[in-house]
Amino acid sequence: MGVKAPPRFDRGEKPSDPTKGRLVPRHVAVVMDGNGRWAQARGKARIQGHRRGVETARRLTSLCGRAGVEYLTLFAFSSENWKRPPEEVRFLTRLLISSLENEISRLQENQIRLNIIGDFRPFGNKAEELITRAREQTFSNTAMTLTIALNYGGRWDLTEAVRELATACEERRMTASDIDESTLSQTLSTGNLPDPDLFIRTGGEIRLSNFLLWQLAYTELFFTDSLWPDFGEKHFEQALDAYKRRQRRYGQTGDQVTT
Ligand code: IPE
Ligand code: IPE
Ligand code: MG
Repeated sequence: MGVKAPPRFDRGEKPSDPTKGRLVPRHVAVVMDGNGRWAQARGKARIQGHRRGVETARRLTSLCGRAGVEYLTLFAFSSENWKRPPEEVRFLTRLLISSLENEISRLQENQIRLNIIGDFRPFGNKAEELITRAREQTFSNTAMTLTIALNYGGRWDLTEAVRELATACEERRMTASDIDESTLSQTLSTGNLPDPDLFIRTGGEIRLSNFLLWQLAYTELFFTDSLWPDFGEKHFEQALDAYKRRQRRYGQTGDQVTT
């Protein structure tokens, strides 16, 4: 992509894990897909689907809060979505700006901290200013962390992290032997988040589309045909139920895993 990563948000320690024995996922990551098809099926322009998609994102945020999910990460715009028609990209940029303007007070009310991953600079100065302000204003909120992936790609994330580590080696701030899974993981844009426990993709496609490639290594995957604007409480409960029934083994045998 040839652009340098923006300064990373909060390089603090990852919260200490254990997800073991938890029936509710601590971190849910979502590919919000199917807005265009939802609109087209109703004879509307694709952008109407994106508009409805924002409402679904708001609804899911509140459902997650109620369910006790601590981290929600939403894929809103991929590094490949620039290939879409310019009018759609322009609309999505405007929708991003208006959503940031409208949602900030709701985030504050609900004590939600806003985090952004991805290189959001190409969305322009206005978006950049709003993002900076929203992140600052919500920084001390502790009820939940809502991460929005904007101009994000898993390969971009890994490439940026590798470059950052290589630079640190060149500048002799570290040596190659210091690099392990933990340093790489913490250098990613998600360095301050635990790995997702549950991944949800709406819209019927069974693929990751370059979302959190490293972070999803041991995440439980849930795919639904439901289009994003239709995704509601019932679908979310289905995903949570499916998650509860999974046995996370991390390479062990079923007998070794007791919870
Ligand atoms: C997801 O819905 C939103 C974005 C990628 C911005 P789509 O716009 O991909 O909807 P479909 O997949 O074309 O229906
Ligand atoms: C993935 O959806 C990206 C987002 C939801 C932001 P896409 O619609 O871009 O994925 P593909 O092109 O079908 O793989
Ligand atoms: Mg799509």
